[in-house]
Amino acid sequence: VEEVEQVARDFESDLQELPPDQLKIKYLSRKGLVSKLLEKIPTLPPEQRRDFGKYVNDLKRHIEEQIKQKEEQLLSIGSKHLAQEPLFLNDLTLEGKRPPLGNVHVLFKARDELLSIFKFMGFSFFDGPELETDFYNFEALNFPPYHPARDMQDTLVVGDRVLRTHSSAMQVRAMEAWGVPIKVILPGRVYRREEVSARKYPVFYQFDCLAVGENIGVGHLKWTLETFLSAYFEKNVTVRFRPSYFPFVEPGNEVDVKCVFCDGQGCSVCGGTGWLEILGAGLVHPRVLEYAGVDPNRYSGFAFGVGVDRMAMLKYGINDIRLLYEGDVSFLRSL
Ligand code: PHE
Repeated sequence: VEEVEQVARDFESDLQELPPDQLKIKYLSRKGLVSKLLEKIPTLPPEQRRDFGKYVNDLKRHIEEQIKQKEEQLLSIGSKHLAQEPLFLNDLTLEGKRPPLGNVHVLFKARDELLSIFKFMGFSFFDGPELETDFYNFEALNFPPYHPARDMQDTLVVGDRVLRTHSSAMQVRAMEAWGVPIKVILPGRVYRREEVSARKYPVFYQFDCLAVGENIGVGHLKWTLETFLSAYFEKNVTVRFRPSYFPFVEPGNEVDVKCVFCDGQGCSVCGGTGWLEILGAGLVHPRVLEYAGVDPNRYSGFAFGVGVDRMAMLKYGINDIRLLYEGDVSFLRSL
């Protein structure tokens, strides 16, 4: 009886302190204090069991009732509280605050614009590894071992691999995988050992355009270049070819576009000549076709390589490549 009274007293003080769900656990659950009292019944002398049992059960009913009352009381306080709030706090028709939205980075916006032009023109897309073998990055592109042309691109070496220095590394991979004829875009991130400056960054984005089939020649190359450049810059673009050297094309060309970035001759983008050097191109070297297992007597093709960063900077008027990589949010948001 003493113990029952103790539980009853504890409950009265807990009732003030504890929330209903905790009260239920402490007193009414299977391992609660009331259950403990009920478990005592069989240990008592038979003549005491009835009175004790009634006593405990009365307490149990009392506890249940009190907890229920407390629950109802809390609920009514809660809804009264809501009802007393100033109206504007409950006005569900008010407009919410918009969380700040991100925007597509200008470099990837430019890349997506470029790639969608080629998608529209019926090109496929092929992907290859950034950590590349010497074979695909150099040798299969007709850079012999120790040939000085390898110094055209300062290479970052990782173990027995290189970080690919150009997206041309995917040319032979694509022809091996898909055979010819092929019309494919090879986009990707490339790496060179460069000092960071306004014009150079040790990591940047390129894509190669590669088309190989029967009777593909310079005319197809020039048409493809002018068509995609005109679509990208949304102006009629004229190109001119200057002879140049890349081991994997023959003939090889540097391609200039007639300045579309300002009206007259000579602006800060194009300099005095009115022409802007924009990419490298040429007809696929027969050796490259051979490395890819393609018969150079039957097939020919063109290839060109485009710097995505360069294209983004030209279209969006950015004069420092570092802005593309240094995450200055106020700059990026302005584009
Ligand atoms: N891969 C060359 C570079 O990065 C560009 C190029 C691609 C030139 C295809 C000719 C043909 O400099």
